Amino acid sequence: MKEEYKKDTMVLHADHEWGVKDGTVAPAIYYTSTFPANDAAEFADMASRPLHPQYYTRYGNPVHERVKAIMAELEGTETALVTGSGMGAIATTLLSLVSAGDHVIAQTRHYMSTTKIMDDMLPRFGVEVTIVEQTDLAAFEQAIKPNTKLIMLETPANPTLVLTDLEAVATLAKSHGIVLVADNTFASPLNQRPHDLGVDVVVHSATKYLGGHSDITAGVICTSHELAERIWDTHTSIGSVLSPMDAWLLLRGLRTLPVRIERINSNALALAEFLENQPEIEQVFYPGLVSHPQHELALKQMKGFGAVIAFAIKGDYAATQRFVSALNLSINAVSLGGVESLVIHTAAMWEGALNEEQMKTAGIPANFVRYSVGLEHIEDLKADVLQALKEI
Ligand SMILES: Cc1ncc(COP(=O)(O)O)c(C=O)c1O
Repeated sequence: MKEEYKKDTMVLHADHEWGVKDGTVAPAIYYTSTFPANDAAEFADMASRPLHPQYYTRYGNPVHERVKAIMAELEGTETALVTGSGMGAIATTLLSLVSAGDHVIAQTRHYMSTTKIMDDMLPRFGVEVTIVEQTDLAAFEQAIKPNTKLIMLETPANPTLVLTDLEAVATLAKSHGIVLVADNTFASPLNQRPHDLGVDVVVHSATKYLGGHSDITAGVICTSHELAERIWDTHTSIGSVLSPMDAWLLLRGLRTLPVRIERINSNALALAEFLENQPEIEQVFYPGLVSHPQHELALKQMKGFGAVIAFAIKGDYAATQRFVSALNLSINAVSLGGVESLVIHTAAMWEGALNEEQMKTAGIPANFVRYSVGLEHIEDLKADVLQALKEI
């Protein structure tokens, strides 16, 4: 792929060689679990070559290769891997890079299943975890021990949109030889490229913006050839495999990612500014707002600010439920980054997975709403929010 191509062009052509090989314009779906060898010698080669794209679909598949080519270009990494979900990407990355006796540093705020891995799963396998306040660089530094192997970041963090200074933590990690992993789901590679700032492994829930149509679960891991081979080795045992059909849908979603992100960024910023001016709203958190406590950092490390707005209603748990129920356009459903607007009462979702102590650490009040802005016309979204606010 020519370096000088812009992202909009790249997402359509980075996998060009597979189109030539298949002789098709629309990507061929390799709907097969296994691939034939021409003879026993070729089979021996297929069986022993890491990352072979046409051996067995748990190990790789040509449709995965096409997604990998685009994702590596988007994140600026040497290569990428695909998995069956975002959690598949995160769990596989963590389990491949740490062992019993190692120490890991993570944030107070993460997507709740990542928090569960840190609090429950890694300690069960003898990995020690220290949770730090993500806005406090000194806390990261103080948490480092001789056996610290990995730091896990997520910025903006789900669901509070608190940011982590990627470059500062990367400098720290590098100086101690610690692998740095960042969940870039909430930004998308169009809005933020953690690898450019020194992050070693960038993970995504491709279920969100990358797929973009709320029809698949998928994950992506973007990294160096060396780390990809290590992670792939664990991936083949864990088996978080993306089906060829879902990889094809992900590929279709990636073709329109730049145009979707452009609209999502402008819609979300406009809606966040609108919400800030409504008397029924207590506070709005959106990195693109001048009022966001880390707006300067957002401007430094992000090009746009994504779909998700977090805001607090002036009211209690029940009032927040009434507001969410009264919305007509945005669908009351988990997930984000799709073509349609989605909304949740944040406390209700997090309570379903975390205990009281973890809820307190995560800092999620009862009157919090998480709104993922879609591609609808902004005036329709504003009108819908306005009529729902009258119901609280
Ligand atoms: C930031 C973040 N990371 C990871 C995940 C997990 O992704 P998946 O649902 O595709 O497993 C999510 C899901 O919402 C998320 O928001």
